[in-house]
Amino acid sequence: MTEVITIALSLLFVSPETTDRQQKEKTKKDDVVTFEDTIAPILKKNCTPCHFEGGKMFEKHPFNKYETVRDLGKKLGTRLKGENGRLLTLWIESGSPNKKSEGQEKP
Ligand code: HEC
Repeated sequence: MTEVITIALSLLFVSPETTDRQQKEKTKKDDVVTFEDTIAPILKKNCTPCHFEGGKMFEKHPFNKYETVRDLGKKLGTRLKGENGRLLTLWIESGSPNKKSEGQEKP
């Protein structure tokens, strides 16, 4: 009887940690340029206050909205230089994805 208890206890302590970790590795690697992760922070940093809430261009061209930025597309490149301009081009070339999960989830 004590043996059964010992076996049951040792089974309890076999932790499922390894499978958890493997899953995390898998979802981590994905270096696609997306609006949410890359473009939005660039705009937020460089184009405030005018194109954000309270700014004079917020009504016409709000940059916190994916659709605005996607539709302006290459026009944004005239005001983004260097690395930021390169990231913008990369983003447009990969089809202006909104977020990483796009294409995987159904609306
Ligand atoms: C000081 C305020 C201000 C800042 C900062 C600003 N903009 Fe603008 N933006 C404007 C105004 C005003 C207009 C409308 C007049 C014009 O076209 O210049 C405009 C227009 C634009 C247009 C033209 C839209 C069209 O219909 O052709 C683009 C593209 C644009 N901005 C991109 C940017 C980007 C990208 C940044 C950040 C790197 C930025 N702007 C930062 C004020 C600003």
